[in-house]
Amino acid sequence: MAGKTILVIDADVASRNFVARTLQKQQHTVIQIGGGKEGLIAAWRDHPDLVIIEPNLPDLKGEELASKLRHDPRTAGTPLVALSSDRSAQRLTACREAGFNEFIAKSGEAIPTLLEVLDRLLGEVDPSKQQGGLLVAFLGAKGGTGTTSLCTNLAMNIALSQPELRVAVADFVLPIGSIAQIVGYDGGQNLATATDLDAGVAATAYFRDRLTLMTEWRFRLLAGSPDPETANHLQVERLRGIVHDLKRAYDFVLVDLGRSLARFSLGIIQSADLAALVIGTDVSAVALTKTVLEHLRSKGVKDDALFPILNRAIGLEGLSKLDVEKSLKIEIKSAFPYLGSHFAMANNQHVPFSVKFPNDTATVVFRECAQQMVASARHHRLG
Ligand SMILES: Nc1ncnc2c1ncn2[C@@H]1O[C@H](COP(=O)(O)OP(=O)(O)O)[C@@H](O)[C@H]1O
Ligand SMILES: [Mg+2]
Repeated sequence: MAGKTILVIDADVASRNFVARTLQKQQHTVIQIGGGKEGLIAAWRDHPDLVIIEPNLPDLKGEELASKLRHDPRTAGTPLVALSSDRSAQRLTACREAGFNEFIAKSGEAIPTLLEVLDRLLGEVDPSKQQGGLLVAFLGAKGGTGTTSLCTNLAMNIALSQPELRVAVADFVLPIGSIAQIVGYDGGQNLATATDLDAGVAATAYFRDRLTLMTEWRFRLLAGSPDPETANHLQVERLRGIVHDLKRAYDFVLVDLGRSLARFSLGIIQSADLAALVIGTDVSAVALTKTVLEHLRSKGVKDDALFPILNRAIGLEGLSKLDVEKSLKIEIKSAFPYLGSHFAMANNQHVPFSVKFPNDTATVVFRECAQQMVASARHHRLG
């Protein structure tokens, strides 16, 4: 990744020199500029491969600068990194919205983080990767349909079938998450501790390196809210930022939204590469799914971004796949049979179903469903 031209815009000479020296040691060519307007000219004139900007500039706000660069064809695709002395959540959000690819708070850890970010941003030639990893949102219209069990087990199967992929699972179900229970995680890190973190800290590097790897499950976990009290205090407005950071840190991110269609989850579903809609086989589950489907469609979620899964969680009775397809006017991509107490048993022992029951036919369904899901998400991303 050596030999790139990097423009550093920062009015603080000491800080700018320090960053420049570090980058020169990595064999990069560095252009240093002290002001926003001059920086804008340099960015358009010198065609840098990447621009690092301290958003706190005397003459032009960093956000404004970024937005100007984004809207000019010469720099629309140039990676922009904010290296900010202001570590507030508002600043982070403003920078993201202005078009910065990354936000790094100036701190003792800023340089290693910056180098990692540069490696990633400069190494990327595939424009689809600029958007980060693939995002699958799991939702069910009704509780108890198997949304969480399927999310965790499919994530495990995705990671198993493609070991080169970095997979993360995040439990966004409020007021109480349940993935930690299923996978046997009893650590102190969860959605609330993540949303509480200083915005500059809870960035990509944090999620990539600090989330616990659930070895048997082969994914890293961001556990959910442990109790309603915690959920009440949770900074819900940070959740979309967390999804953004997770996508930057992982190839595949699965988010369990449960049956909540709160405003925050709708945004996540709309931005997802795939919405895995888990449908129960009882009449009421199908009726509720119909309502959810209509809502999603009215909010611009296209049918090809949906991945409907029929799950016979409640027993052998209930509607057939054909009945459900007819009633919902949608193609079911994958159907899981009733598994008796096996699923609950695997869940209670914190073991993936495919590990606990390798010879069960459902193990094959899991594998095939996971593969199909990866293919659909990729297909949808590429348009
Ligand atoms: N196909 C299935 N066969 C039998 N039991 C299932 C099946 N799918 C899910 N279950 C069981 O249903 C219960 C609810 O599952 P869960 O994943 O928590 O649902 P949700 O997240 O939609 O509320 C769990 O006990 C789970 O083991
Ligand atoms: Mg659940």
